[in-house]
Amino acid sequence: MIRYTLPAFVGVLVLIAQRQPTGAAPVAEEIKVFSTSIQPMLKTYCIKCHNNDTQEGGVNYAAIRDDSIAITKRGLWKRAFKRIESGEMPPEGAKPLAPADKESLVRWMKFAAEYVDCDPSRRDPGPSIARRLTRTEYNLTVRDLFGFPFDSGSAVGMPEDGGGEHFDNLAADLSFEEYARSVVNAAHAAGMDVRFSTR
Ligand code: HEC
Repeated sequence: MIRYTLPAFVGVLVLIAQRQPTGAAPVAEEIKVFSTSIQPMLKTYCIKCHNNDTQEGGVNYAAIRDDSIAITKRGLWKRAFKRIESGEMPPEGAKPLAPADKESLVRWMKFAAEYVDCDPSRRDPGPSIARRLTRTEYNLTVRDLFGFPFDSGSAVGMPEDGGGEHFDNLAADLSFEEYARSVVNAAHAAGMDVRFSTR
């Protein structure tokens, strides 16, 4: 008889199920202007009062070290362009903004304040959903583990894959509970005495 324990069996399937592709897409060209031309201007006109030690108004421009941080600071850019446009920043007595610099700062900050980053790897997608294997993934895994050809649909009543939006492996379409049940059924098929519990 086959002597795999169920936890190990489920563990292997869960591990395989959670392999997800990663990799950040490049930051948009317009945002990249930050490190080449915006950051130097902040250094010239603003950083004196908005740095790690002196954070006037709770604002620290020294902490925005690169494009990928700049991209996440929409609220800050919104407050900044309003203060610059109104002439409040830089305040009286500080080095005044050259008109061309003022224009470029405000234009870029407005853009950055509106910018929506479409790269899912930089957005917070919330907690990741555990997903079951697709039928095909499941069949191949059982074949690898136990060495017999397996049709999860007919053998253990594995539900159809969601088929959402042309992908068969979307987490939302692959319910884990149904999957756990079918894993138990597969274990039964392999001669193991196990029961399914949701607790
Ligand atoms: C000489 C010092 C000084 C310089 C230079 C300076 N600031 Fe400020 N900044 C302050 C002080 C003081 C405050 C807090 C009081 C206030 O809100 O007016 C402040 C507040 C702010 C705030 C917070 C406003 C809010 O909504 O709470 C922003 C945004 C800001 N500054 C942007 C800038 C920008 C952009 C520059 C450069 C173009 C700049 N500051 C240059 C002194 C400075």
